[in-house]
Amino acid sequence: MPPRLGVNVDHVATLRQARRATYPDPVAAAQLAELAGADQITIHLREDRRHIQDRDLRILRQTVSTRLNLEMAATAEMVKIAYDVKPDQCTLVPERREELTTEGGLDVAGGRDHVRKIVRTLRDADVLVSVFVDPDVDQVRAAHRVEAQVVEIHTGRYCDARLPGDQRRELTRIIDAVRAAAKLGLAVAAGHGLNYRNAAPVAGIPEIEEFNIGHAIVARAVLVGMERAVREMRELLAEGARAGGR
Ligand code: PXP
Repeated sequence: MPPRLGVNVDHVATLRQARRATYPDPVAAAQLAELAGADQITIHLREDRRHIQDRDLRILRQTVSTRLNLEMAATAEMVKIAYDVKPDQCTLVPERREELTTEGGLDVAGGRDHVRKIVRTLRDADVLVSVFVDPDVDQVRAAHRVEAQVVEIHTGRYCDARLPGDQRRELTRIIDAVRAAAKLGLAVAAGHGLNYRNAAPVAGIPEIEEFNIGHAIVARAVLVGMERAVREMRELLAEGARAGGR
């Protein structure tokens, strides 16, 4: 069975926020993604609100008809928001203000008591809890110990590897972490940095049930949509010119 695809629409909001405009709206993007077969919509509400806004989360909660997966830092503010909004799933991720994107996995092993408390609170609200960790068997075991139900394996280093040998080594790390998670009874997801060139080998790992992919899909949408967008604007200008008697 093919894995589920969670489409991360953060960067639709990035484009909107670049102009502090009302469009493009990640809510509209989410609906189109669902029409195209997305199994889940994923968003990251960051502490600095650099892309997704609280408004997006609230509306997506009402409009997403598949599943809504909220990536969030393990903080009291985010737990409160999640407790109120009740996404179908929360994925706990590390967050640093100065980073461009999530840079590494959550150190579950190093912050076990804190993470366990947050997992419990979210599970009490009937939210499925995932933790985003590096492909490291110790972190996977820690995820199991804090009673997360899902573990999302960080694929960033595999995606960044340029040499075939490095890619193979990183893929092996992913496979080892995935197998360890599946053995422990955790559901397994994967994501970060996956694109149209590097996703297929990871999709071949049978235990991975879900992929969360954002940047590559939004970037592709911008390019494959460019021709139509330009054509439509040219037609609109020509019509306006005709109406103005030019
Ligand atoms: N999974 C997690 C936990 C993430 O933090 C991100 C980035 O927000 C993704 C998946 C998607 O990564 P990308 O945008 O590189 O596809």
